[in-house]
Amino acid sequence: MKTKILILLRNATDYISGQELCEELGVSRTAVWKVMNQLKEEGYIINSIQNKGYKIEHIPDVMTKSEIASRLGTRWAGRNLYCYEEVGSTNMIAKKKAEESEPHGTLIVADKQTTGRGRRGRSWESPAGTDIYMTLSLKPEFTPDKASMLTLVMAQAVTNAIEEASGLSSGIKWPNDIVVNGKKVCGILTEMSAELDYIHYVVIGVGINVNLPEVSEELKVTATSLFIEGRKKIMRAQIIERVMHYFEEYYELFLQTEDLSGLLNVYNHSLVNCDREVRVLDPKGEYIGTARGINELGELLVEKAEGEIVRVYAGEVSVRGLYGYV
Ligand code: BTN
Repeated sequence: MKTKILILLRNATDYISGQELCEELGVSRTAVWKVMNQLKEEGYIINSIQNKGYKIEHIPDVMTKSEIASRLGTRWAGRNLYCYEEVGSTNMIAKKKAEESEPHGTLIVADKQTTGRGRRGRSWESPAGTDIYMTLSLKPEFTPDKASMLTLVMAQAVTNAIEEASGLSSGIKWPNDIVVNGKKVCGILTEMSAELDYIHYVVIGVGINVNLPEVSEELKVTATSLFIEGRKKIMRAQIIERVMHYFEEYYELFLQTEDLSGLLNVYNHSLVNCDREVRVLDPKGEYIGTARGINELGELLVEKAEGEIVRVYAGEVSVRGLYGYV
């Protein structure tokens, strides 16, 4: 009911009467009044005038189920939603939920993580109240070899969401970092449980530095937040809604061919690596080349000095001009 009240309050251009809310929701005036009080306790400012009704004046930057669900317009992405004040890692919760038979598209959101994890065993700083930590769990019917492309699908959804919500220009550093002004604002950690030819589930964890006022000394050269770059606070729930919107659209496009051919142009357009010098940290030996975009399998095409094109499918690729690489 809280979600429905939020939808009605946000959509109303003026005061909405208690009578109207009761009729729409099929509940008593007391029930509506109780929800209004709960919302006020969460930080919403709601004006109430006798004989006129209720009007929402301020929406706080909360990561509650009702705030996020009241914004979602998706069919399945994020529709089964769990929101927590504090967790170890949203990826861990998502895996547990997937094992407990929660459906495709289940989304786990947390306001704080105590053991946030990054790629390659790194940790992910996850303080309370400022950033986004969320994991989307999927149960695809395609084969496990295609799952790594989902990280690129998510990267594209996040970059679109960031641009729309913040107005900042953002790009993707292959395969899945989102950068603004040359520094990282978002990382993605995809994990899978599978047999050789069958996926049990895939979880895609997304960490976005949204309203973080400053980055720790250690990460200052490589990382930033949307607030630091744009000097404007952004509602985290708004970004989550946009990510789910674009992810659902792009995932369905991906399913048509089970590769990235439908997303190739849009991804390559967002790719900050394109036509820039990159250093590929190949386990067999490091080399320098020029990135030329991705192919439909999500591999980065790197042109070496002698003209040979190498397909890079995994590993670390540094881009000159980003993260302090000069
Ligand atoms: C990276 O190293 O770039 C990936 C970082 C991924 C962080 C997110 S935050 C939400 C989810 N839960 C985690 O523990 N990690 C991911």
